[in-house]
Amino acid sequence: MRPVLVTSALPYANGHIHIGHLVEYIQTDIWARAQRAMGRRAIYVCADDTHGSAIMLRARAEKRSEIDLIAEMSAAHQRDFAAFQIAFDHYGSTHSAENRAFAGEIWAAFRAGGHVAKRPVQQLFDPVEKIFLADRFVRGTCPKCRAPGQYGDNCDQCGATYAATELIDPTSVLSGATPVLGEADHYLVSIEHERPWLTAWTQAEGRMPRATAKYLAGFFLPEPLHDWDVSRTAPYFGFEIPDAPGHYFYVWFDAPIGYLAATQQWCDKAGEKFDDYWRSAEADIVHVIGKDIVKFHTLFWPVMLKTAGFSLPRRVQVHGFLTVNGAKMSKSKGTFVLASTFARHLDPTYLRYYYATKLGPSVDDLDLDVDELEKRVNAELVNKIVNLASRSARFVPAGLALPYPNDGGLFAAGAALADEVAAAYDGWDFAKVTRLVTGLADRANEAVDRAAPWALAKDPARAAEAEAAASIALNLFRQIVVYLAPVLPRLAGDVAALFGAPVDRFELARTPLAGTKLAPYQHLLKRVDPAKVTAMIDESKPAEPLAAAAAPAAAPAPPAGAPDDGAALAAEPLGATCTIDDFTKVDLRVARIVAAESVPEAKKLLKLTVSLGGEARRTVFAGIKAHYRPEELVGRLVIVCANLAPRQMKLGLSEGMVLAAGASGEAFLLSPDSGARPGMRVH
Ligand code: 2FM
Ligand code: ZN
Repeated sequence: MRPVLVTSALPYANGHIHIGHLVEYIQTDIWARAQRAMGRRAIYVCADDTHGSAIMLRARAEKRSEIDLIAEMSAAHQRDFAAFQIAFDHYGSTHSAENRAFAGEIWAAFRAGGHVAKRPVQQLFDPVEKIFLADRFVRGTCPKCRAPGQYGDNCDQCGATYAATELIDPTSVLSGATPVLGEADHYLVSIEHERPWLTAWTQAEGRMPRATAKYLAGFFLPEPLHDWDVSRTAPYFGFEIPDAPGHYFYVWFDAPIGYLAATQQWCDKAGEKFDDYWRSAEADIVHVIGKDIVKFHTLFWPVMLKTAGFSLPRRVQVHGFLTVNGAKMSKSKGTFVLASTFARHLDPTYLRYYYATKLGPSVDDLDLDVDELEKRVNAELVNKIVNLASRSARFVPAGLALPYPNDGGLFAAGAALADEVAAAYDGWDFAKVTRLVTGLADRANEAVDRAAPWALAKDPARAAEAEAAASIALNLFRQIVVYLAPVLPRLAGDVAALFGAPVDRFELARTPLAGTKLAPYQHLLKRVDPAKVTAMIDESKPAEPLAAAAAPAAAPAPPAGAPDDGAALAAEPLGATCTIDDFTKVDLRVARIVAAESVPEAKKLLKLTVSLGGEARRTVFAGIKAHYRPEELVGRLVIVCANLAPRQMKLGLSEGMVLAAGASGEAFLLSPDSGARPGMRVH
């Protein structure tokens, strides 16, 4: 049988996994497990996407090597994935020897085919940081709708896309400086010559969701395909192009090559042959991606593979974006929930089940309605499904009835769904699986309610009837768990232990167990506790309402519950008069927080690295740990007292003070208005 090789998009190493990412990893993991439950061999590989300017700059700001940073992030990603029971066969990194070798091989094939050109490309340059700026490192006013504070690739307000060079009043996100137009040689690969073939390949039946194929056919494929700019100039964190010193592969060039490298690493570990997967017509390669990265996977990537003689994916499965409570995930609403935060408060099984109920084969966006998650998990998983076992297990002390009793055809009806369940999984319609299964659970519950083993068991003369009724309920429960095992692997493992029998193949749903002695019943799944949902959302909100990292144009309204009633002034009356000379002695400057970390040994302190522009950096310990999370602060402008005598603390030297308002127990950081730049003096 053809082996299946399935991948999820490689997550960037510069951010933590959140519930938006998890849609894709949970979706892929369910599909891979379902393939195995059908008896196929399915290998699931993934890796961290580690290259690019963002990683380089963050490592620089945190005064550490990129290697150190990506190692830490890889460990964090893998911890998060494990918590959500996402079981990769291999998890690699694009910063690996294997990836470098494959990137070189594909590059050489483009060269050999005469598809590489070198051309000067205009780009914005940060004169302070001395670096060409990627689109996301430039902000300015949208050239179309004039909305301020937009990134260099597209406008959040009107949706327009443009080149960073078109922004009005651009500033560098890194230094606050006004970027200048620079020019550098870049390497571009042509893909236009593959357009006829690409058109046929993308439009082949089953290659990708119909909507995606239609989008490509409508937008990209009718026009000549532009050459793809695949190089960046130093400094850049990535692989230097073998025959072009000082030039690096653009992160998106070697990112998908990471699929090959991860497979190679898995093969080395598992004693398998790489060529059986990526140089063979026998393997069934499937990529799962979000709709934002379709172009990379359906235009550039197939051309890269074809040019270098690798196999092409059979399918590119595309999903939509996650919204939460009907809106984009939002830090201020607490709906930008990190995977680790979710797992700290709630059982990851809830999210796996809830996403499964929402995931169909279409590329539509998917909404996580937090109240609905609570209701569905409680009503369907706990009350309908797990309850079948929890209220029956104690009536079979001697084991399940032997032979399996007459259940009026219920088990057989469930068994007849095995092929439909498998086909729904195979066609990415997990919502259908959950509908089929909750239907089975409804009928099973009706039967248990009618038979009421708990009532029968009160009469010793009817113990055998109680045992029969409970045996039916438990077998119907196990059948349901077999069908849901790809969605709920942790629960399935516990159920396998309860019955002392596996649940990991759909064919196991065809035969009831009889005579089996159960292990002592252990609690399988708790109801969702609404207090924990609230705690998760609260923990995901910024510690204090941010006075906006991107400095607000207008003064924010006073926070609710803190009227301008004079209480703050009364609590801390004005100090003695000072002269202008006294005031000018204090040198207050605008600074940008470039790194922030929590100091475990100090209850109240965060360690901040602030930039006064250019190379001028200071370390400041600020007593704001209770009010701000370090990751919210990076990039934000603040005011510092820059000529305060350095103070040697136990933790290190503090070289200034970050200004904040509020009595003790409060801290509201001060931010300058938009346009201010690091190093400006406050007069
Ligand atoms: O969009 C992203 O998050 C990318 N890091 C995905 C890369 S997928 C593959 F091409 F590596
Ligand atoms: Zn706009």
